[in-house]
Amino acid sequence: MKRIIRKAILPAGGLGTRFLPATKASPKEMLPIVDKPMIQYAIEEAQACGIEEFIIITGKHKRAIEDHFDTAFKLEESLKKSGKKILLEEISRLNLLNFAYIRQREALGLGHALSCAGPFVKEEPFAVLLSDDIIEPGDHLLRDMINLYKELTSPILALEKVPLSEVHKYGVVKGEKLRDNVYRINGLVEKPSPSHAPSDMAIIGRYILTADIFPVLEDVEPGKGGEIQLTDALSGLLKKRPIYGYLFTGKRYDAGDKVGYLKATVDFALKNPQVSVQFKEYLLDIAGRLKHT
Ligand code: UTP
Repeated sequence: MKRIIRKAILPAGGLGTRFLPATKASPKEMLPIVDKPMIQYAIEEAQACGIEEFIIITGKHKRAIEDHFDTAFKLEESLKKSGKKILLEEISRLNLLNFAYIRQREALGLGHALSCAGPFVKEEPFAVLLSDDIIEPGDHLLRDMINLYKELTSPILALEKVPLSEVHKYGVVKGEKLRDNVYRINGLVEKPSPSHAPSDMAIIGRYILTADIFPVLEDVEPGKGGEIQLTDALSGLLKKRPIYGYLFTGKRYDAGDKVGYLKATVDFALKNPQVSVQFKEYLLDIAGRLKHT
């Protein structure tokens, strides 16, 4: 069957200021969760949905991302010679995917990052994944969104209910419930205060978008934080066509934030067969000690 969503765009041009000094000269997207960089989780999530073409928006100090997804002939040869089959499989698993890189010359915001990909997407719908939102492998958010797109053929935003005290970190939507987990969007506000939030449904880092977002992005003025906001472009697009939301109820880690990153690291380590037993013992030991402080 013909795949409807063949391309994914991964904006990775941000400055990652919440992780300074680690991100002064290295990409936030390459920070590892146990033994795999954050961005690889997003790539594998999209690959599991049949996506094989990836456009990564990079910026200054992001060269390590290109190197990471390049074929590593010498390393593969050396692993082959030393019989390290599992590691060899692990590092060559993504070799069949196609990667293209576009440099965002200045970090002017997520909307601006996305607009840099406009000339390369043409007319087809595409997925957008923000790699600092890590979705629990096994929760099929992107697959469900693609299926919903097939039915509605309009942009689909991933939504999550968040506490009102956190709405200021997100784009927040006003939505009319159509059925379980599916909403028709009636309005969007970027980073509202709790008293101005239209709901507690925040946009998280997965989108299925259509190419008509690009001309709208061209006309978007800087918004919250002086950045070109994708949420503002979606507000503009909403005047022209319906947009839907898919309410995600699985597990997401906000790994762009230090505490979210640490939570992801602990949970993924506890599921990693190489380290889980030892790590759990260590955590239990710490928990015991903390009880007495
Ligand atoms: P964030 O809002 O997390 O910004 O971006 P950031 O710069 O990465 O990190 P902080 O807030 O300074 O700590 C969300 C996503 O949008 C991308 C980021 O790389 C991240 O994947 N982005 C953001 C861009 O590609 N370009 C930008 O100009 C801004």
